[in-house]
Amino acid sequence: MTQAPLDEAAVRQATERCRLVGSAGAPVEFHERIGSTNDRAAELAAGGAAEGALVVAARQEAGRGRRGRTWVSPPGGIYLSLLLRPDEGMLRRLPVTLLGGLAAAEAIEEATGLKPELKWPNDVLLGGRKVAGILGEMTREESGEQRIVLGVGINVATELAALPQELREVADSLAAHTDEVDAGALLGAFLRRFEEHYLAVRRGGGATILAVACARMPLLGKPVRVRFSEERQVTGIASGLNATGGLVLELEDGTREVVVAGEVEGMGAK
Ligand code: BTN
Repeated sequence: MTQAPLDEAAVRQATERCRLVGSAGAPVEFHERIGSTNDRAAELAAGGAAEGALVVAARQEAGRGRRGRTWVSPPGGIYLSLLLRPDEGMLRRLPVTLLGGLAAAEAIEEATGLKPELKWPNDVLLGGRKVAGILGEMTREESGEQRIVLGVGINVATELAALPQELREVADSLAAHTDEVDAGALLGAFLRRFEEHYLAVRRGGGATILAVACARMPLLGKPVRVRFSEERQVTGIASGLNATGGLVLELEDGTREVVVAGEVEGMGAK
């Protein structure tokens, strides 16, 4: 496995062709080591940083995942957080986390030729194992405006042995599937793909993006179980996504439920 390391120069280069990221004075930071890039991006946001601020790290010591989980972040991964300041119209369209998952899958394909799949809402999988995850954290500012810190973790050349046992069974890294990954090129591809989708949705688009995302979701059309909490779960056929990215479930009693948050797992043979 050959891997160009992620460093300050690689991050600068990755943002060169971006329109939003690093634009109009939005800061771009690279850290060899940090607690959580989401926390650092939130600090920048609180200090008034512009949309498009970016924090990238080579490792995290307090990385956070969805649902209060830890995101174990050893060297070999890409850990990034992007500051977004969407308007109300944008927030009523597609979730930026869905755009982030799609952009991560597309960027991995562009940089490696691998074909990742998406598990709703935004896990990126190869062969059923997770190679990237997305965490969106929204805050309402005193002005009433919303800001979102979009955190993305990609297991590029992550040593699976460095992960806790329970994660080794469900996680994977790109290095297990391909000989060569240039982390800087992958980062650049992610930023450009994400911007393209984000700006399209901001202009009022979204239907095409939704269709492209659905095409990467093998669980659509299949029986699934959705866990909302320890106590509540439902089963049904995942028939598709609605216009705002919710998962449409056809339940056994013939009714339909739109899920906006939950953990999905397939129930049948793949
Ligand atoms: C998930 O649970 O699937 C989401 C994982 C998100 C991890 C990323 S790594 C960069 C950013 N900083 C964090 O602390 N978390 C996110």
